[in-house]
Amino acid sequence: MAEAESIIQVHDKTFRPLILRDEISAMVTSVASKINRDFAGEELTVIVILKGSFLFAADLVRHLTMPVVVEFARASSYGKGMTSSGTVTIEGLSADVEGRNILLIEDIVESGTTITELKKHLSLLHPKSLTVAALLSKPSVHNDAVSVDYIGREIGSEFVVGYGLDYAEQGRHLADIWVYDASPEA
Ligand code: IMP
Ligand code: MG
Repeated sequence: MAEAESIIQVHDKTFRPLILRDEISAMVTSVASKINRDFAGEELTVIVILKGSFLFAADLVRHLTMPVVVEFARASSYGKGMTSSGTVTIEGLSADVEGRNILLIEDIVESGTTITELKKHLSLLHPKSLTVAALLSKPSVHNDAVSVDYIGREIGSEFVVGYGLDYAEQGRHLADIWVYDASPEA
């Protein structure tokens, strides 16, 4: 798992480095400065979408300069594999939403179903504003109507692990982001 390693194994799959920790850190800082600019003089309630966003959120909120309330919700759309089940389950959302600036913190937007469902649900609770920050986005596989306000970086349709993102619950602790290598040598 050392930084110098060029290949890692998670369960039965091989991954190679895609985004190293220094670049991740720069992405987080850049997203934070946009949020600081847009919400200067306002209060912000961030809702951390568990589990995948825990590291991104932990790093992001430490760069925020306005008064911040941190809430958590659990959304699952993936089963144990590498493809989404297509059904989103939302649990544990007890945040005070009405009249607040709500910022959803998501690890990665793929089809967009997860954030679309969460936004649908939250907009019924009359927030003052409702925005989304995602570390990663896969625009080539988005459904039509996905809107993400703050994006760390866009990637292709490939499957990634690390920095909160899992493959069947493993790999979340990795400090870098690794991409599934479908054709490893040997
Ligand atoms: P969506 O609802 O299709 O946008 O899927 C978003 C959710 O799927 C994210 O919150 C992740 O939990 C998961 N996901 C999407 N792509 C990946 C990936 O490449 N690696 C790990 N999890 C992913
Ligand atoms: Mg996930």
